[in-house]
Amino acid sequence: MTTTAQHYEHHLAPLYVWMAGGATAALQAGAAEIEAMKLPVAAGEVVVDLGAGFGMHAIPLARQGALVTAIDSSAALLQTLQELGSGLPVRVIIDDLLSFQDHVQQAPKAILCMGDTITHLAEPSMVDELITKAYETLVPGGVFVLSFRDYSVPLTEDQRFIPVRNDDTRLLTCFLDYETKTVLVHDIVHERTPQGWQLKVSHYRKLRLPPDDLVDRMKSTGFLVRREAGPRGMTRLIATKA
Ligand SMILES: C[S@@+](CC[C@H](N)C(=O)[O-])C[C@H]1O[C@@H](n2cnc3c(N)ncnc32)[C@H](O)[C@@H]1O
Repeated sequence: MTTTAQHYEHHLAPLYVWMAGGATAALQAGAAEIEAMKLPVAAGEVVVDLGAGFGMHAIPLARQGALVTAIDSSAALLQTLQELGSGLPVRVIIDDLLSFQDHVQQAPKAILCMGDTITHLAEPSMVDELITKAYETLVPGGVFVLSFRDYSVPLTEDQRFIPVRNDDTRLLTCFLDYETKTVLVHDIVHERTPQGWQLKVSHYRKLRLPPDDLVDRMKSTGFLVRREAGPRGMTRLIATKA
């Protein structure tokens, strides 16, 4: 079984910006999402982005003047973030997102975990751990934002093949293979080479997290939770530390 970190290092990280539609379009989409959420973050306030990737949300927040700490286990994606966010107040940290408290010197106003990152955690107990740590770390009135895919209701038969992106040089299709509490995600890449089309396949595991369960866990920790539809079919939870 490929680990999530291996999957990103060898398979997904080199394609990630392309998969997201290219840097300019992806950063515009990230900025639109930040705008839509109306986060209570003013210039000069601290934000932590967990699983920040190439900075789809971290960079727009930093452009608004937030002091962003971007944490990710992928050195390659953080390198891209640094290039795209050059000159902005973003600090990048290569680490596991559950260790984020080690890198926070000042209590943040917002902690983000966007784009289906939370489903990458290995166990549901780690989700509980993250919610508790986010609550402990935020300033009063701060927000913890999650956006993720609901895999709790399985797609069946041909629905499990999901075209992600294609152009003249590359096609990316995702295949979902459901297990009891997890889903195996196979990223199937066809790339045009001088020798013809080349196939590369790699897979990793994601958690099937029912949104209602997450809302309940957040509420029982003390958060007030707003649930809304996020982009690309994701569920978004905006949890405020009362
Ligand atoms: C689906 S991408 C989302 C990236 C970004 N948040 C976005 O919305 O574009 C998931 C990201 O989480 C990172 N990641 C996955 N598991 C992680 C972990 N345990 N600790 C830190 N980063 C992790 C991956 O390297 C990847 O950059």
